[in-house]
Amino acid sequence: MAQKNNRKNVVIEFLLHLHPISVKKDSLKFSRTFGLGGINILLFLILVSTGTLLRFSYIPTQQNAYDSIVNLQKLTYFGTLLHATHHWSAMIFLVTSFLHFVRVIYSNSIYYERSKNFYYGLVLFALVLSSNFTGYALPWDQLSYWAITILTNTIKMLPLIGAPIAKFIAGGSKVGANTLFFFYNLHTAVLPLTIFIFIVIHIWLVRANSGVTLPAKESTEKVKTSPELTSRELLAALSVLAFVLLLAFFFPPHLLGKASPAITPADIKAPWYFSGVQEMLLNVHPIFTIFLTPITILLYLIYVSRTKIEQEKIGVWFYSDKGKQAIVYSAAFAALLSFTLILIFEYLFNADNTSLPVLLVNGIIPLLAYLLPAGGFVFYLLRFKKTNKTETALAIITMILTSYITMGLTTTFLRANGMRLIF
Ligand code: HEM
Ligand code: HEM
Repeated sequence: MAQKNNRKNVVIEFLLHLHPISVKKDSLKFSRTFGLGGINILLFLILVSTGTLLRFSYIPTQQNAYDSIVNLQKLTYFGTLLHATHHWSAMIFLVTSFLHFVRVIYSNSIYYERSKNFYYGLVLFALVLSSNFTGYALPWDQLSYWAITILTNTIKMLPLIGAPIAKFIAGGSKVGANTLFFFYNLHTAVLPLTIFIFIVIHIWLVRANSGVTLPAKESTEKVKTSPELTSRELLAALSVLAFVLLLAFFFPPHLLGKASPAITPADIKAPWYFSGVQEMLLNVHPIFTIFLTPITILLYLIYVSRTKIEQEKIGVWFYSDKGKQAIVYSAAFAALLSFTLILIFEYLFNADNTSLPVLLVNGIIPLLAYLLPAGGFVFYLLRFKKTNKTETALAIITMILTSYITMGLTTTFLRANGMRLIF
Protein backbone atom coordinates (compact mmCIF):
# COMPACT_ATOMS: atom_id res chain seq x y z
CA MET A 1 0.00 0.00 0.00
CA ALA A 2 2.82 2.36 1.03
CA GLN A 3 4.65 1.44 -2.19
CA LYS A 4 1.54 2.30 -4.26
CA ASN A 5 1.25 5.70 -2.55
CA ASN A 6 4.91 6.36 -3.22
CA ARG A 7 4.46 5.63 -6.88
CA LYS A 8 1.44 7.99 -7.02
CA ASN A 9 3.51 10.71 -5.38
CA VAL A 10 6.24 10.32 -7.96
CA VAL A 11 3.70 10.86 -10.77
CA ILE A 12 2.21 13.97 -9.11
CA GLU A 13 5.69 15.30 -8.33
CA PHE A 14 6.70 14.82 -11.97
CA LEU A 15 3.61 16.64 -13.27
CA LEU A 16 4.11 19.51 -10.86
CA HIS A 17 7.74 19.78 -11.87
CA LEU A 18 6.62 20.70 -15.37
CA HIS A 19 5.07 23.80 -13.79
CA PRO A 20 6.01 26.07 -10.93
CA ILE A 21 3.86 25.65 -7.77
CA SER A 22 2.28 29.07 -8.27
CA VAL A 23 1.94 31.43 -11.23
CA LYS A 24 1.28 35.15 -11.62
CA LYS A 25 -2.48 35.72 -11.81
CA ASP A 26 -2.27 38.12 -14.75
CA SER A 27 -0.31 35.60 -16.84
CA LEU A 28 -3.44 33.42 -16.90
CA LYS A 29 -5.46 36.00 -18.85
CA PHE A 30 -6.35 34.47 -22.21
CA SER A 31 -5.35 37.63 -24.08
CA ARG A 32 -1.78 37.36 -22.74
CA THR A 33 -0.70 34.16 -24.55
CA PHE A 34 -3.92 32.80 -26.14
CA GLY A 35 -2.59 29.50 -24.86
CA LEU A 36 -0.57 29.20 -28.08
CA GLY A 37 2.68 27.82 -26.62
CA GLY A 38 0.78 25.09 -24.77
CA ILE A 39 -1.31 24.31 -27.86
CA ASN A 40 1.94 23.85 -29.80
CA ILE A 41 3.12 21.29 -27.26
CA LEU A 42 -0.17 19.42 -27.49
CA LEU A 43 -0.07 19.37 -31.31
CA PHE A 44 3.47 18.06 -31.24
CA LEU A 45 2.37 15.25 -28.93
CA ILE A 46 -0.57 14.39 -31.23
CA LEU A 47 1.80 14.36 -34.22
CA VAL A 48 4.30 12.08 -32.50
CA SER A 49 1.60 9.61 -31.44
CA THR A 50 -0.29 9.55 -34.76
CA GLY A 51 3.03 9.53 -36.67
CA THR A 52 4.26 6.54 -34.68
CA LEU A 53 1.05 4.67 -35.54
CA LEU A 54 1.37 5.65 -39.22
CA ARG A 55 4.80 4.06 -39.29
CA PHE A 56 3.18 0.66 -38.77
CA SER A 57 1.56 0.76 -42.18
CA TYR A 58 3.66 3.23 -44.18
CA ILE A 59 6.32 1.75 -46.50
CA PRO A 60 9.02 4.27 -47.47
CA THR A 61 9.78 3.00 -50.98
CA GLN A 62 8.90 4.55 -54.31
CA GLN A 63 6.84 1.52 -55.38
CA ASN A 64 4.89 1.12 -52.14
CA ALA A 65 4.60 4.49 -50.35
CA TYR A 66 1.47 5.66 -52.15
CA ASP A 67 -0.27 2.28 -52.06
CA SER A 68 0.54 1.85 -48.37
CA ILE A 69 -1.42 5.02 -47.57
CA VAL A 70 -4.30 4.03 -49.88
CA ASN A 71 -4.39 0.62 -48.13
CA LEU A 72 -4.28 2.28 -44.75
CA GLN A 73 -7.32 4.33 -45.73
CA LYS A 74 -9.26 1.46 -47.31
CA LEU A 75 -8.35 -1.58 -45.25
CA THR A 76 -7.57 -0.41 -41.73
CA TYR A 77 -10.15 0.53 -39.12
CA PHE A 78 -9.88 4.29 -38.52
CA GLY A 79 -7.03 4.43 -41.09
CA THR A 80 -8.46 7.51 -42.82
CA LEU A 81 -9.06 9.20 -39.48
CA LEU A 82 -5.48 8.48 -38.38
CA HIS A 83 -3.99 9.88 -41.59
CA ALA A 84 -6.33 12.90 -41.49
CA THR A 85 -5.59 13.62 -37.81
CA HIS A 86 -1.87 13.66 -38.54
CA HIS A 87 -2.46 15.90 -41.56
CA TRP A 88 -4.67 18.46 -39.78
CA SER A 89 -2.55 18.58 -36.62
CA ALA A 90 0.44 19.36 -38.84
CA MET A 91 -1.41 22.17 -40.65
CA ILE A 92 -2.70 23.69 -37.40
CA PHE A 93 0.74 23.33 -35.81
CA LEU A 94 2.13 25.62 -38.51
CA VAL A 95 -0.64 28.17 -38.00
CA THR A 96 -0.34 28.17 -34.19
CA SER A 97 3.47 28.39 -34.34
CA PHE A 98 3.12 31.39 -36.63
CA LEU A 99 0.50 33.01 -34.38
CA HIS A 100 2.69 32.36 -31.33
CA PHE A 101 5.56 34.08 -33.15
CA VAL A 102 3.25 37.01 -33.97
CA ARG A 103 2.05 37.19 -30.33
CA VAL A 104 5.56 37.35 -28.82
CA ILE A 105 6.56 40.05 -31.31
CA TYR A 106 3.51 42.29 -30.91
CA SER A 107 3.36 41.86 -27.14
CA ASN A 108 7.00 42.99 -26.95
CA SER A 109 8.13 39.77 -25.26
CA ILE A 110 11.39 39.24 -27.14
CA TYR A 111 13.75 41.70 -25.48
CA TYR A 112 16.68 41.43 -23.03
CA GLU A 113 16.83 38.03 -21.28
CA ARG A 114 14.02 36.75 -23.55
CA SER A 115 15.91 37.35 -26.79
CA LYS A 116 17.72 34.02 -26.35
CA ASN A 117 14.43 32.16 -26.15
CA PHE A 118 13.27 34.05 -29.22
CA TYR A 119 16.20 32.51 -31.17
CA TYR A 120 15.23 29.05 -29.95
CA GLY A 121 11.70 29.87 -31.12
CA LEU A 122 13.00 30.86 -34.57
CA VAL A 123 14.81 27.52 -34.83
CA LEU A 124 11.64 25.73 -33.73
CA PHE A 125 9.70 27.51 -36.44
CA ALA A 126 12.21 26.37 -39.07
CA LEU A 127 11.99 22.82 -37.72
CA VAL A 128 8.18 22.82 -37.84
CA LEU A 129 8.32 24.04 -41.45
CA SER A 130 10.85 21.33 -42.33
CA SER A 131 8.72 18.66 -40.66
CA ASN A 132 5.76 19.76 -42.71
CA PHE A 133 7.68 19.80 -45.95
CA THR A 134 9.32 16.40 -45.40
CA GLY A 135 5.90 14.99 -44.43
CA TYR A 136 4.41 16.45 -47.63
CA ALA A 137 6.81 14.25 -49.60
CA LEU A 138 5.92 10.98 -47.92
CA PRO A 139 2.61 10.11 -49.68
CA TRP A 140 4.69 10.15 -52.91
CA ASP A 141 1.82 11.35 -55.03
CA GLN A 142 2.12 13.80 -57.93
CA LEU A 143 2.03 16.75 -55.53
CA SER A 144 4.87 15.36 -53.40
CA TYR A 145 7.06 14.39 -56.32
CA TRP A 146 6.73 17.65 -58.22
CA ALA A 147 7.01 19.85 -55.12
CA ILE A 148 10.42 18.32 -54.30
CA THR A 149 11.48 18.43 -57.94
CA ILE A 150 10.70 22.15 -58.10
CA LEU A 151 12.44 22.77 -54.79
CA THR A 152 15.66 21.04 -55.87
CA ASN A 153 15.58 22.72 -59.31
CA THR A 154 15.20 26.11 -57.63
CA ILE A 155 18.06 25.43 -55.20
CA LYS A 156 20.25 24.34 -58.14
CA MET A 157 20.00 27.88 -59.49
CA LEU A 158 21.99 29.27 -56.55
CA PRO A 159 25.56 29.84 -57.72
CA LEU A 160 28.30 27.54 -56.31
CA ILE A 161 26.41 26.10 -53.35
CA GLY A 162 23.15 25.34 -55.23
CA ALA A 163 24.09 22.12 -57.03
CA PRO A 164 25.70 20.35 -54.03
CA ILE A 165 22.80 21.30 -51.73
CA ALA A 166 20.22 20.09 -54.29
CA LYS A 167 22.16 16.83 -54.69
CA PHE A 168 22.29 16.38 -50.92
CA ILE A 169 18.53 16.91 -50.54
CA ALA A 170 17.62 14.65 -53.44
CA GLY A 171 20.16 12.01 -52.37
CA GLY A 172 21.54 11.95 -55.91
CA SER A 173 21.28 13.76 -59.20
CA LYS A 174 17.52 13.10 -59.54
CA VAL A 175 14.56 13.04 -57.19
CA GLY A 176 13.77 9.38 -56.55
CA ALA A 177 14.05 6.45 -54.13
CA ASN A 178 16.94 7.98 -52.17
CA THR A 179 15.06 11.24 -51.74
CA LEU A 180 12.04 9.50 -50.30
CA PHE A 181 14.14 7.44 -47.89
CA PHE A 182 16.11 10.50 -46.79
CA PHE A 183 12.93 12.51 -46.19
CA TYR A 184 11.41 9.58 -44.31
CA ASN A 185 14.34 9.38 -41.91
CA LEU A 186 14.42 13.11 -41.41
CA HIS A 187 10.68 13.20 -40.85
CA THR A 188 10.21 10.30 -38.49
CA ALA A 189 13.45 10.42 -36.48
CA VAL A 190 15.82 13.38 -36.85
CA LEU A 191 13.31 16.24 -36.91
CA PRO A 192 10.95 15.03 -34.12
CA LEU A 193 13.90 14.35 -31.83
CA THR A 194 15.44 17.75 -32.54
CA ILE A 195 12.08 19.50 -32.02
CA PHE A 196 11.66 17.68 -28.73
CA ILE A 197 15.09 18.84 -27.48
CA PHE A 198 14.42 22.42 -28.54
CA ILE A 199 10.97 22.45 -26.92
CA VAL A 200 12.49 21.26 -23.63
CA ILE A 201 15.10 24.05 -23.71
CA HIS A 202 12.45 26.58 -24.82
CA ILE A 203 10.11 25.76 -21.93
CA TRP A 204 12.99 25.65 -19.48
CA LEU A 205 13.98 29.17 -20.58
CA VAL A 206 10.39 30.41 -20.12
CA ARG A 207 10.59 29.15 -16.54
CA ALA A 208 14.09 30.53 -16.04
CA ASN A 209 12.67 33.95 -17.05
CA SER A 210 9.97 33.62 -14.36
CA GLY A 211 7.13 32.77 -16.72
CA VAL A 212 5.58 34.76 -19.54
CA THR A 213 6.27 38.47 -19.89
CA LEU A 214 3.96 40.80 -18.01
CA PRO A 215 3.93 44.60 -18.25
CA ALA A 216 5.43 46.24 -15.16
CA LYS A 217 2.13 47.86 -14.21
CA GLU A 218 0.25 44.54 -13.89
CA SER A 219 -0.13 43.06 -10.42
CA THR A 220 2.33 40.49 -9.14
CA GLU A 221 -0.34 38.55 -7.23
CA LYS A 222 0.20 34.81 -7.45
CA VAL A 223 -2.27 31.92 -7.56
CA LYS A 224 -1.83 28.16 -7.21
CA THR A 225 -0.92 26.43 -10.49
CA SER A 226 -3.33 23.63 -9.68
CA PRO A 227 -6.22 24.15 -10.34
CA GLU A 228 -5.93 27.73 -11.76
CA LEU A 229 -3.56 26.96 -14.66
CA THR A 230 -4.09 23.21 -15.02
CA SER A 231 -7.88 23.51 -15.42
CA ARG A 232 -7.41 26.10 -18.18
CA GLU A 233 -4.83 23.90 -19.88
CA LEU A 234 -7.17 20.93 -19.77
CA LEU A 235 -10.02 22.95 -21.28
CA ALA A 236 -7.76 24.29 -24.06
CA ALA A 237 -6.35 20.80 -24.76
CA LEU A 238 -9.80 19.22 -25.03
CA SER A 239 -11.06 22.02 -27.31
CA VAL A 240 -8.05 21.72 -29.64
CA LEU A 241 -8.35 17.94 -29.73
CA ALA A 242 -12.07 18.17 -30.57
CA PHE A 243 -11.34 20.75 -33.29
CA VAL A 244 -8.60 18.61 -34.90
CA LEU A 245 -10.80 15.48 -34.80
CA LEU A 246 -13.76 17.32 -36.33
CA LEU A 247 -11.61 18.62 -39.18
CA ALA A 248 -10.07 15.17 -39.67
CA PHE A 249 -13.48 13.52 -39.71
CA PHE A 250 -15.20 15.90 -42.10
CA PHE A 251 -12.28 16.93 -44.34
CA PRO A 252 -9.90 14.00 -44.90
CA PRO A 253 -6.94 14.98 -47.13
CA HIS A 254 -7.14 13.54 -50.60
CA LEU A 255 -4.15 12.26 -52.54
CA LEU A 256 -3.46 13.08 -56.17
CA GLY A 257 -2.37 10.24 -58.49
CA LYS A 258 0.73 8.21 -57.73
CA ALA A 259 4.00 10.11 -58.44
CA SER A 260 4.94 9.96 -62.09
CA PRO A 261 8.06 11.70 -63.44
CA ALA A 262 6.65 11.36 -66.97
CA ILE A 263 3.48 13.39 -66.34
CA THR A 264 4.02 17.05 -65.43
CA PRO A 265 0.85 18.56 -63.93
CA ALA A 266 -0.32 21.82 -65.59
CA ASP A 267 0.05 23.93 -62.43
CA ILE A 268 2.34 22.72 -59.72
CA LYS A 269 1.51 24.67 -56.62
CA ALA A 270 3.81 24.67 -53.64
CA PRO A 271 2.29 23.71 -50.26
CA TRP A 272 0.26 26.71 -49.03
CA TYR A 273 2.88 27.85 -46.49
CA PHE A 274 5.46 28.22 -49.30
CA SER A 275 3.10 29.81 -51.82
CA GLY A 276 4.46 33.28 -50.96
CA VAL A 277 7.92 32.03 -51.95
CA GLN A 278 6.50 30.57 -55.16
CA GLU A 279 4.86 33.90 -56.05
CA MET A 280 8.10 35.78 -55.43
CA LEU A 281 10.05 33.28 -57.56
CA LEU A 282 7.89 34.20 -60.56
CA ASN A 283 9.67 37.55 -60.78
CA VAL A 284 12.69 37.38 -58.50
CA HIS A 285 15.76 35.17 -58.92
CA PRO A 286 16.26 32.34 -56.34
CA ILE A 287 19.45 34.01 -55.02
CA PHE A 288 17.27 36.78 -53.66
CA THR A 289 14.12 34.77 -52.97
CA ILE A 290 15.39 31.74 -51.12
CA PHE A 291 18.75 33.01 -49.91
CA LEU A 292 19.33 36.74 -49.44
CA THR A 293 15.79 37.78 -48.46
CA PRO A 294 15.22 35.12 -45.74
CA ILE A 295 18.72 35.71 -44.34
CA THR A 296 18.19 39.48 -44.25
CA ILE A 297 14.81 39.06 -42.52
CA LEU A 298 16.30 36.65 -39.99
CA LEU A 299 19.19 39.01 -39.21
CA TYR A 300 16.74 41.88 -38.90
CA LEU A 301 14.59 39.95 -36.39
CA ILE A 302 17.69 39.11 -34.35
CA TYR A 303 18.78 42.74 -34.50
CA VAL A 304 15.34 43.95 -33.33
CA SER A 305 15.33 41.54 -30.37
CA ARG A 306 18.72 42.93 -29.29
CA THR A 307 17.67 46.58 -29.31
CA LYS A 308 16.91 48.38 -26.07
CA ILE A 309 13.35 49.16 -25.07
CA GLU A 310 12.02 51.07 -22.04
CA GLN A 311 11.41 48.70 -19.09
CA GLU A 312 7.81 49.89 -18.67
CA LYS A 313 7.03 49.02 -22.30
CA ILE A 314 8.11 45.38 -22.05
CA GLY A 315 5.08 43.12 -22.44
CA VAL A 316 2.82 45.98 -23.58
CA TRP A 317 0.76 44.99 -26.61
CA PHE A 318 1.73 46.99 -29.74
CA TYR A 319 3.94 49.24 -27.57
CA SER A 320 1.59 52.28 -27.70
CA ASP A 321 -1.46 53.71 -29.48
CA LYS A 322 0.88 55.21 -32.04
CA GLY A 323 2.50 51.77 -32.47
CA LYS A 324 -0.94 50.25 -33.08
CA GLN A 325 -1.74 52.90 -35.68
CA ALA A 326 1.62 52.41 -37.43
CA ILE A 327 0.97 48.65 -37.59
CA VAL A 328 -2.47 49.11 -39.19
CA TYR A 329 -1.12 51.64 -41.72
CA SER A 330 1.83 49.45 -42.66
CA ALA A 331 -0.36 46.38 -43.14
CA ALA A 332 -2.61 48.33 -45.54
CA PHE A 333 0.37 49.90 -47.32
CA ALA A 334 2.24 46.58 -47.76
CA ALA A 335 -0.83 44.73 -49.06
CA LEU A 336 -1.46 47.49 -51.61
CA LEU A 337 2.19 47.78 -52.65
CA SER A 338 2.71 44.03 -53.04
CA PHE A 339 -0.43 43.51 -55.06
CA THR A 340 0.26 46.52 -57.28
CA LEU A 341 3.75 45.18 -58.02
CA ILE A 342 2.33 41.74 -58.81
CA LEU A 343 0.02 43.37 -61.38
CA ILE A 344 2.79 45.54 -62.85
CA PHE A 345 5.17 42.58 -63.26
CA GLU A 346 2.40 40.46 -64.74
CA TYR A 347 1.07 42.93 -67.31
CA LEU A 348 3.47 45.82 -67.82
CA PHE A 349 7.03 44.68 -67.25
CA ASN A 350 7.75 41.45 -69.05
CA ALA A 351 11.20 40.18 -68.09
CA ASP A 352 11.30 37.85 -71.14
CA ASN A 353 11.19 40.81 -73.54
CA THR A 354 14.29 42.58 -72.26
CA SER A 355 17.92 41.92 -73.07
CA LEU A 356 19.16 43.22 -69.69
CA PRO A 357 21.18 40.88 -67.41
CA VAL A 358 19.00 38.43 -65.52
CA LEU A 359 20.12 39.56 -62.06
CA LEU A 360 19.03 43.07 -62.92
CA VAL A 361 15.66 42.14 -64.41
CA ASN A 362 14.89 39.38 -61.93
CA GLY A 363 16.64 40.84 -58.94
CA ILE A 364 17.65 44.44 -58.59
CA ILE A 365 14.65 45.93 -60.46
CA PRO A 366 11.83 44.07 -58.61
CA LEU A 367 13.59 44.48 -55.27
CA LEU A 368 14.09 48.21 -55.76
CA ALA A 369 10.48 48.47 -56.94
CA TYR A 370 9.51 47.14 -53.51
CA LEU A 371 12.22 48.63 -51.30
CA LEU A 372 12.03 52.23 -52.52
CA PRO A 373 8.32 52.78 -51.76
CA ALA A 374 8.63 50.70 -48.56
CA GLY A 375 11.63 52.80 -47.46
CA GLY A 376 9.65 55.95 -48.31
CA PHE A 377 6.81 54.72 -46.11
CA VAL A 378 9.15 54.06 -43.18
CA PHE A 379 10.57 57.56 -43.67
CA TYR A 380 7.01 58.93 -43.55
CA LEU A 381 6.38 57.09 -40.25
CA LEU A 382 9.60 58.37 -38.70
CA ARG A 383 9.30 61.92 -39.95
CA PHE A 384 5.60 62.67 -39.78
CA LYS A 385 4.21 60.14 -37.32
CA LYS A 386 7.31 60.43 -35.13
CA THR A 387 7.41 56.71 -34.41
CA ASN A 388 10.32 55.59 -32.22
CA LYS A 389 12.68 52.64 -32.81
CA THR A 390 10.37 49.93 -31.47
CA GLU A 391 7.20 51.26 -33.13
CA THR A 392 9.07 51.47 -36.44
CA ALA A 393 10.39 47.92 -36.01
CA LEU A 394 6.86 46.63 -35.42
CA ALA A 395 5.71 48.48 -38.57
CA ILE A 396 8.54 46.97 -40.67
CA ILE A 397 7.84 43.44 -39.41
CA THR A 398 4.15 43.99 -40.23
CA MET A 399 5.08 45.00 -43.78
CA ILE A 400 7.17 41.84 -44.23
CA LEU A 401 4.42 39.56 -42.91
CA THR A 402 1.65 41.29 -44.88
CA SER A 403 3.64 41.19 -48.13
CA TYR A 404 4.30 37.48 -47.67
CA ILE A 405 0.63 36.77 -46.97
CA THR A 406 -0.49 38.88 -49.97
CA MET A 407 1.88 36.99 -52.28
CA GLY A 408 0.78 33.65 -50.85
CA LEU A 409 -2.92 34.42 -51.27
CA THR A 410 -2.32 35.56 -54.86
CA THR A 411 -0.63 32.32 -55.87
CA THR A 412 -3.16 30.20 -54.00
CA PHE A 413 -6.36 31.82 -55.23
CA LEU A 414 -5.57 33.93 -58.27
CA ARG A 415 -3.21 31.84 -60.37
CA ALA A 416 -4.01 29.02 -62.78
CA ASN A 417 -3.43 27.90 -66.38
CA GLY A 418 0.36 28.01 -66.33
CA MET A 419 0.50 30.26 -63.25
CA ARG A 420 -1.15 33.23 -65.02
CA LEU A 421 -3.30 35.62 -63.05
CA ILE A 422 -7.00 34.84 -63.42
CA PHE A 423 -9.77 37.26 -62.49
C1 HEM B 1 6.46 18.21 -36.08
C2 HEM B 1 5.91 17.06 -36.24
C3 HEM B 1 5.32 16.53 -37.52
C4 HEM B 1 4.75 17.20 -38.58
C5 HEM B 1 4.59 18.71 -38.73
C6 HEM B 1 4.32 16.21 -39.55
C7 HEM B 1 3.71 16.47 -40.76
C8 HEM B 1 3.33 15.52 -41.70
C9 HEM B 1 2.62 15.79 -42.92
C10 HEM B 1 2.18 17.17 -43.40
C11 HEM B 1 2.44 14.60 -43.57
C12 HEM B 1 1.72 14.38 -44.90
C13 HEM B 1 0.31 13.93 -44.60
C14 HEM B 1 -0.62 14.15 -45.76
O1 HEM B 1 -1.05 15.30 -45.95
O2 HEM B 1 -0.90 13.20 -46.49
C15 HEM B 1 3.05 13.56 -42.76
C16 HEM B 1 3.09 12.23 -43.09
C17 HEM B 1 3.68 11.27 -42.32
N1 HEM B 1 4.23 11.45 -41.07
FE1 HEM B 1 4.42 13.17 -40.06
N2 HEM B 1 4.64 14.95 -39.06
C18 HEM B 1 5.26 15.12 -37.84
C19 HEM B 1 5.75 14.13 -37.01
C20 HEM B 1 5.80 12.80 -37.36
C21 HEM B 1 6.38 11.78 -36.52
C22 HEM B 1 7.01 12.02 -35.15
C23 HEM B 1 6.26 10.60 -37.22
C24 HEM B 1 6.71 9.21 -36.84
C25 HEM B 1 7.41 8.89 -35.83
C26 HEM B 1 5.59 10.89 -38.47
C27 HEM B 1 5.30 9.95 -39.43
C28 HEM B 1 4.69 10.22 -40.62
C29 HEM B 1 4.43 9.20 -41.64
C30 HEM B 1 4.78 7.72 -41.56
C31 HEM B 1 3.79 9.87 -42.70
C32 HEM B 1 3.35 9.26 -44.05
C33 HEM B 1 1.98 8.75 -44.01
C34 HEM B 1 0.95 9.81 -44.26
O3 HEM B 1 1.10 10.64 -45.16
O4 HEM B 1 -0.03 9.81 -43.53
N3 HEM B 1 5.33 12.24 -38.52
N4 HEM B 1 3.58 14.16 -41.61
C1 HEM C 1 7.20 24.01 -31.35
C2 HEM C 1 6.90 25.25 -31.26
C3 HEM C 1 6.81 26.03 -29.95
C4 HEM C 1 6.41 25.63 -28.70
C5 HEM C 1 5.95 24.25 -28.27
C6 HEM C 1 6.50 26.78 -27.84
C7 HEM C 1 6.12 26.81 -26.49
C8 HEM C 1 6.09 27.94 -25.70
C9 HEM C 1 5.44 28.06 -24.40
C10 HEM C 1 4.66 26.95 -23.72
C11 HEM C 1 5.64 29.32 -23.96
C12 HEM C 1 5.06 29.96 -22.68
C13 HEM C 1 3.56 30.22 -22.84
C14 HEM C 1 3.16 31.04 -24.06
O1 HEM C 1 3.78 32.06 -24.34
O2 HEM C 1 2.20 30.63 -24.73
C15 HEM C 1 6.45 30.01 -24.95
C16 HEM C 1 6.91 31.30 -24.84
C17 HEM C 1 7.72 31.90 -25.78
N1 HEM C 1 7.96 31.48 -27.07
FE1 HEM C 1 7.47 29.67 -27.80
N2 HEM C 1 6.99 27.86 -28.57
C18 HEM C 1 7.15 27.43 -29.86
C19 HEM C 1 7.57 28.21 -30.93
C20 HEM C 1 8.02 29.50 -30.81
C21 HEM C 1 8.35 30.37 -31.90
C22 HEM C 1 8.20 30.01 -33.38
C23 HEM C 1 8.79 31.55 -31.36
C24 HEM C 1 9.29 32.80 -32.05
C25 HEM C 1 10.11 32.82 -33.00
C26 HEM C 1 8.73 31.42 -29.92
C27 HEM C 1 9.14 32.39 -29.01
C28 HEM C 1 8.75 32.42 -27.68
C29 HEM C 1 9.07 33.48 -26.76
C30 HEM C 1 9.92 34.71 -27.04
C31 HEM C 1 8.43 33.15 -25.56
C32 HEM C 1 8.43 33.99 -24.25
C33 HEM C 1 7.19 34.81 -24.28
C34 HEM C 1 6.96 35.62 -23.04
O3 HEM C 1 7.89 35.79 -22.25
O4 HEM C 1 5.84 36.14 -22.89
N3 HEM C 1 8.23 30.18 -29.63
N4 HEM C 1 6.70 29.15 -26.02
